[in-house]
Amino acid sequence: MSGNEQKYINEAFETNWIAPLGPHVDLFEKEIARFLGVNDAVAVSSGTAAIHLALSLLDVKKGDKVFCSTLTFVASANPILYQGAEPIFIDSDPESWNMSPQALEKAFKNALLEGKMPKAVIVVNLYGQSAKMDEIVSLCNQYDVPIIEDAAESLGTTYKSKPSGSFGKYGIFSFNGNKIITTSGGGMLVSNDVEAIHRARFLAAQAKDPAPYYQHSKLGYNYRLSNILAGVGRAQLEILEERVRKRREIFETYYEELGNIPGLFFMKELENTRSNRWLTVLTLDERLSGIPVTVLMKILEEENIEARLVWKPLHLQPLFEGAKYYPHEADSISEQLFNTGICLPSGSNMSEKSQDRVIDCIKKSLNL
Ligand SMILES: Cc1ncc(COP(=O)(O)O)c(C=O)c1O
Repeated sequence: MSGNEQKYINEAFETNWIAPLGPHVDLFEKEIARFLGVNDAVAVSSGTAAIHLALSLLDVKKGDKVFCSTLTFVASANPILYQGAEPIFIDSDPESWNMSPQALEKAFKNALLEGKMPKAVIVVNLYGQSAKMDEIVSLCNQYDVPIIEDAAESLGTTYKSKPSGSFGKYGIFSFNGNKIITTSGGGMLVSNDVEAIHRARFLAAQAKDPAPYYQHSKLGYNYRLSNILAGVGRAQLEILEERVRKRREIFETYYEELGNIPGLFFMKELENTRSNRWLTVLTLDERLSGIPVTVLMKILEEENIEARLVWKPLHLQPLFEGAKYYPHEADSISEQLFNTGICLPSGSNMSEKSQDRVIDCIKKSLNL
């Protein structure tokens, strides 16, 4: 926390706005929209809820297909199942690690042949890195399919100077406890379509008809963000840039200390982009490093250092067994990244001393 959170929480208490609506909610939405340069935003209880609302707004339902990045957290695709639709997974691009435009094109061509286009494409910006948005937007425009940009991990990132999360028909963010800024739990759905966000606000508040009594014609959800948490979010947004700077510094230190070790490859930053470096991630080539990533994980764990393997691709998850998958080429990039990738401790409050300890431990485990 930065300090102002408590002030805004106190304001909520003093004015008795202890509800999933109120002045902080309104201001948080406006401030996020302004920051991103989009027309409107709706604050919700989680990033997952924001994706679910986006799919509802696009009328995704049973029998529909939705394309989704495979290398991501399960929350990117769960709402597809909530809607009874079918997820089709798209491999990663070797440079960005995010959705491969090449695999996406294959998937579109095949969908056209089958006569069933997807209702939406969920593009994820992993670990703070933007996907190749020019290529992806151009393909989606060509096939006339809307994009939901899952920017849960990429608030503060830019692609060609444009904020991450502002490229699709809808963008979504997460303010879960582990994200670059947090409300403990929360999310945001953004769009240039003010009418659609208005509708999202209606759906997120149980879809109550404008009648003098409780009348409901549509299926709604209880997805609004608390006014107290929105206060926390407002204070966090004030220090976002500081957090991005800190995460980038953490990356730089890891890179300076470990970047020259044979077999270690850090996630690159795409040209003309600025990643928020939410997590510092690297891959290990066992033939050069001498140990597989799972052994490195174990050694770190024994030293009480919490690292994580890269997301297990969704097309390999038992939950999505049988789902269609489009690899980048013959080789599946996401599977390679999963088999060799590790996320290093990257918290904004990480001290120099703790980072040195992680670096020393990695060097030792590689016999350096
Ligand atoms: C890529 C991605 N998408 C979606 C989500 C879902 O966000 P939330 O946890 O706020 O529901 C997360 C994080 O949890 C995420 O990392």
